[in-house]
Amino acid sequence: MEIFISSNPDALAQYAVDGIEELLAAKPEAVIGFATGSSPMAVYDEMAARYEAGRIDFSKAKGFQLDEYVGLPAGHEQTYLRFIHENMADRVNFVPGTVRAPDGTCEDLAAGAAAYEAAIEQAGGVDFQILGIGSNGHIAFNEPGGSLASATRVEALTEQTRQDNARFFDGDITRVPTHCVTQGLGTIMRARRIILLAQGEGKAEAIAHLVEGSVSARWPATILQHHPRVTLLLDEAAASKLELRDHYRWAWENRG
Ligand code: GLP
Repeated sequence: MEIFISSNPDALAQYAVDGIEELLAAKPEAVIGFATGSSPMAVYDEMAARYEAGRIDFSKAKGFQLDEYVGLPAGHEQTYLRFIHENMADRVNFVPGTVRAPDGTCEDLAAGAAAYEAAIEQAGGVDFQILGIGSNGHIAFNEPGGSLASATRVEALTEQTRQDNARFFDGDITRVPTHCVTQGLGTIMRARRIILLAQGEGKAEAIAHLVEGSVSARWPATILQHHPRVTLLLDEAAASKLELRDHYRWAWENRG
């Protein structure tokens, strides 16, 4: 695992988008995995800036969103499909329809989830996955206690996650959906490269488990210890509970 700790959010975002720019230059039809939430926003701003500057072209690329709430009507302002279009896809030149999200509205949610998993596979798998992390260690919406090898499926949200996300629903937890459709940990682990962003002290415990804890369904992100190509992009606060953070800093500065 590579760990880049910086108090400069632009440096972290630029590192992530350098990776996307290089990937698309080598493979214009690449598949990129997107996360919602506040963590990747600087990355999406940098993607839009580079698109406007003519440095990056998404016209042949495809995108897959990690997760979606169940039960919000299509087009609802808090659906993750809408989020990813407003904050990323519509700001660059993805062809309409090529950035997809799991379907949280269909009658047979399990069949919809399986179709989504198959669509990722048919597209050739995810080349570059952007992740955030929940304060309880979830990635996408893989909550504690789930299988470390799970596929895209319906998942129940924890009270903690609903509380964390109530800020998007006028602070009212009763309006936050109870369920979601999420890519599984097995799905995410098949991505060829993973960049995970975390900011703030609220993420520090989850980051400490992810990097230095035991692999466990209690902290789902710990499965990433088994992935060969993960980079963590952390601000100082998110890195503050890492025992060996001075070593990680040194290793980053002196990486080969
Ligand atoms: C949400 C999403 C995750 C996201 C995480 C962190 O619930 N399902 O994909 O990474 O929580 O969100 P934020 O970046 O806003 O802290």
